[in-house]
Amino acid sequence: MFVTFEGIEGTGKTTQIARAVEHLRENGLEVETTLEPGGSRLGRELRRILLSMESRDLTGRAELFLYLADRAQHVETFIRPALMRGAAVISDRYADSTVVYQGYGRGLDPNLLHRLNDTAVDGLWPDLTILLDIEPETGLKRAFDRNIREGKQNKEGRFEAEAMDFHQRVREGYLTWAALNADRFAVVDASGSPDEVFAQVRDALDRALAIRQS
Ligand code: TMP
Repeated sequence: MFVTFEGIEGTGKTTQIARAVEHLRENGLEVETTLEPGGSRLGRELRRILLSMESRDLTGRAELFLYLADRAQHVETFIRPALMRGAAVISDRYADSTVVYQGYGRGLDPNLLHRLNDTAVDGLWPDLTILLDIEPETGLKRAFDRNIREGKQNKEGRFEAEAMDFHQRVREGYLTWAALNADRFAVVDASGSPDEVFAQVRDALDRALAIRQS
């Protein structure tokens, strides 16, 4: 089973993923967690470049192809082998991030991005994509507080530093894209407490587990 988590900054993805892993393990699955960008050796180098404030001069197209390169390497060296072994894989972000950030956010054509993604992932699409949805104001405040707590400052802050209307477009893009791909998306209201959010995440996982067993 392949599950991806999506959402803007500060939705609590990390917390929800940890709980999802626990839940799937309780259901007897071997679970691997991973992330994009950065789920392979090459990916970790690309992540540093992509998220650094020093990369502010990256052009939109160059940025796009770096995300696609990260993804192609990630799928072939990590995700597909784990699934072939019978493990469940949970990825913190995947192809939908490209459609939404580079497409709805930066203005590239979402349908073209979908086709490029399909080539990068060689047809490997998630069984379930959980979209943690939150108002950008709330999400960014959470992300900002977390960066301060973790002493991250601006090292990995290129996206947090984008203007609010970019984050608004990304949030709305996610909701549009989720509605267009309703067969695999579950949209979760991420504004509540971690327990309230996880109740919705668990329902989505349980539905996917039931389909898998049927
Ligand atoms: P995060 O995973 O730590 O939230 O940071 C990853 C950032 O990279 C996030 O702001 C979204 C952005 N991103 C894209 O713009 N396109 C992509 O394809 C991916 C995977 C991430």
